Amino acid sequence: AIPLIIDTDPGVDDAFAIALAARSAEVDLVGLTTVFGNVGLDLTTRNALGLLAHLGRTDVPVVRGFEGPAGAADVHGEDGFGGQAHTLPENPRTIYGDDPVRFFADNLTPDTVVAAIGPLTNIAAALDAGITFPRLIVMGGGLGLGNTTERAEFNFWADAEAARTVIRRGNPIIVPLNLTQRCIADTEFLANVDPVLSNLTGTYRAYLARHSEQNLSQREEGILVHDAVAVAEAIVPGTLRTKVHSLDVDDEGALVEGKHQVEVAEDTDWPALRAFMEQRLSV
Ligand code: BDR
Ligand code: CA
Repeated sequence: AIPLIIDTDPGVDDAFAIALAARSAEVDLVGLTTVFGNVGLDLTTRNALGLLAHLGRTDVPVVRGFEGPAGAADVHGEDGFGGQAHTLPENPRTIYGDDPVRFFADNLTPDTVVAAIGPLTNIAAALDAGITFPRLIVMGGGLGLGNTTERAEFNFWADAEAARTVIRRGNPIIVPLNLTQRCIADTEFLANVDPVLSNLTGTYRAYLARHSEQNLSQREEGILVHDAVAVAEAIVPGTLRTKVHSLDVDDEGALVEGKHQVEVAEDTDWPALRAFMEQRLSV
């Protein structure tokens, strides 16, 4: 199996992504490193532990990463899980440590894939410490489009400096908003998957319904599973079709034209990927 570490800020779509990995034999989930983002670090870390307990994967270590100021409670709920975090079981395991850079240094092998699905603070700190990621898949950024400001996507906006470091020196595969906005887990999908996961999506669905008039692709009812799209590429390489772009990141966290060659996921067979996710996530 492919060793996989997920760097994450759960987060509803993070939960779908983690569950997808935890239930896929193609990957060996080596650990989760948490970061602030959708909610603060205490909550993202607690959510990671609770979710793993629900998934029966208390064997997976959780490493507490960096704190920061962002927050998307309007999308993910005050607790990051649509007010439903309390429905998850206790995880008998406590956090494994609070040094994600050390965790990467100790655990990366030439085959390890890291999927970064939150603000890129932990990843940039690791790059600054001289760590090289053999394969780094990042959910973030938008080509000429944002979801937090007009031009900036949330993960890049939340730590623009870190996003810039990753674009310039991380050799990532970027899975941008342009693609993930087309990947809508509709109500039928949500009815077919693990009800504990679906139960987390209430605030998210309400948010998208409120914003439906702003964005054509969000008109269909359901949720955007941004992070799960990125993790699917870690599980089955080639799921996403990529193209190299010359990019950089500005101070706002917007992806702009620049001199750094970056692989960008542009397309996927969403009906096939949707079916794959639905099958793996159903109980
Ligand atoms: C990204 O921002 C977060 O709200 C989601 O979990 C995802 O990682 C999408 O812009
Ligand atoms: Ca996320």
